[in-house]
Amino acid sequence: MLLELQNLSVSYGKALALENVSLTIGEGEFVAVLGPNGAGKSTLLKAISRSQPSTGTLRLRGESLKGLPAHAVVGKGICHCPEGRRLFPELTVLKNLMLGAYLRRDAAAVAQDLRMVYSLFPILEERGPQIVSTLSGGQQQMVAIGRALMGKPSLLLLDEPSVGIAHRLKIEIFDAIKRIQQGGTAILMAEQDAQSALRIADRVYVLEHGHVGREGTSAELGADDYIRQAYLGVS
Ligand SMILES: Nc1ncnc2c1ncn2[C@@H]1O[C@H](COP(=O)(O)OP(=O)(O)OP(=O)(O)O)[C@@H](O)[C@H]1O
Ligand SMILES: [Mg+2]
Repeated sequence: MLLELQNLSVSYGKALALENVSLTIGEGEFVAVLGPNGAGKSTLLKAISRSQPSTGTLRLRGESLKGLPAHAVVGKGICHCPEGRRLFPELTVLKNLMLGAYLRRDAAAVAQDLRMVYSLFPILEERGPQIVSTLSGGQQQMVAIGRALMGKPSLLLLDEPSVGIAHRLKIEIFDAIKRIQQGGTAILMAEQDAQSALRIADRVYVLEHGHVGREGTSAELGADDYIRQAYLGVS
């Protein structure tokens, strides 16, 4: 097993945002987390990347991540593309991408990964010297995903990559994410677009009020009446 969570809980002061969440991700697997606003999706990704303290078990390939600071988790191969992108808007596209590789010393492999990011998102190569704040929202999302890839993840955490993005770019971004998985990287993606998530993910967890409400393969959940009504708008 690549990642294993058992009874993971997170509280913000007195408010419990995640309660006893158990979840697994296999090597190279694509797992989506669905759920409404405030369900705890971002909190779950932050707990995994250790940018938010949690209780319970959190293991990568059998090794506990508890006690590790966030930068050490990046070194272990978990890269987080956070909600709201968190780019450096006044730096260029290329500088933002290279910041994702700041822990790496393998210059030749970094250069190769930059070529891989450019082949996924050709527009980024064209815009390499451009200041990030002048890109469209969809292009900025590509930079954020590309930056996370520059950390050479074995697990990529993506927080709502399609939010606020025009339909055409959204399709392009989801296709690129699928290709990232096909290249061997496991993915955990929080997403509100249930239809797209069920189309590209292998398995899905549904978070509701900090609990796992339902889980199953995309095919199982796509055929589930409750999911169809609550998340796919089928009456
Ligand atoms: N830093 C924080 N301090 C206090 N409460 C927080 C904090 N971050 C999140 N919360 C609360 O924790 C709960 C879960 O929030 P979270 O951001 O994980 O939800 P989400 O599923 O990602 O929602 P969205 O789809 O809107 O991004 C919410 O009730 C939220 O208000
Ligand atoms: Mg969120």
